[in-house]
Amino acid sequence: MRPKRILVACEFSGVVRDAFLDRGFDAISCDLLPSDSDRGKSRHYQGNVLDIIGEEWGLVIAHPPCTYLCNSGVRWLHTRFGRWEQMRRGALFFKSLFEANTPRVCVENPIPHKYAIEIIGTKYSQIIQPWQYGHGETKATCLWLCNLPPLHPTNIVPGREGRIFRLPPGPNRSKLRSTTYKGVALAMAEQWGALLNNESGFTSANMPITQ
Ligand SMILES: C[S@@+](CC[C@H](N)C(=O)[O-])C[C@H]1O[C@@H](n2cnc3c(N)ncnc32)[C@H](O)[C@@H]1O
Repeated sequence: MRPKRILVACEFSGVVRDAFLDRGFDAISCDLLPSDSDRGKSRHYQGNVLDIIGEEWGLVIAHPPCTYLCNSGVRWLHTRFGRWEQMRRGALFFKSLFEANTPRVCVENPIPHKYAIEIIGTKYSQIIQPWQYGHGETKATCLWLCNLPPLHPTNIVPGREGRIFRLPPGPNRSKLRSTTYKGVALAMAEQWGALLNNESGFTSANMPITQ
């Protein structure tokens, strides 16, 4: 049997991919952008995730763009030209990732508005916060889970602020705001990795990574 691989879709940072690599899993990231991390040289597919989503994956974790789907931007649907169509396309993209023909899927996004939920066809499974995973920040983050248990908090900390969200304009602002928190990535790799280790076909934490 070929070892099962993990796809981290819509990830330029490599944060989730590297958390799984560090636990011995065969993981790659994919984004239209190049990978920000060194390991991305051999562990990143730069291109459209829809080109590779149909391959054989044991687990897909996806972070699709939220610009037209999040509740905090719902007012623009009514005031900016073209937004309804952009929203429809964004929600269909989200849906195609969540409905990937893969045994286990997690799609991550901020709290969506009702129009997006209508197209995606299902509400999120849980809401997590960075402060539950060691970062003194607030950012309500929804997870849509298929065959995965809810993520448990690993390190609840005080100092709950929306610092990253209030960053002043700058060249890296949008990247910084959208990069997955390391504590969340570690929790995914730890908790869901333990689940995968009990399944046959996954590269175990003690085996070398296949390049
Ligand atoms: C909200 S950001 C997620 C960033 C992620 N949390 C990280 O730490 O890198 C959404 C990402 O989706 C990527 N993206 C959008 N459409 C895509 C597609 N069709 N295929 C692959 N990546 C795509 C964008 O380039 C962007 O980097």
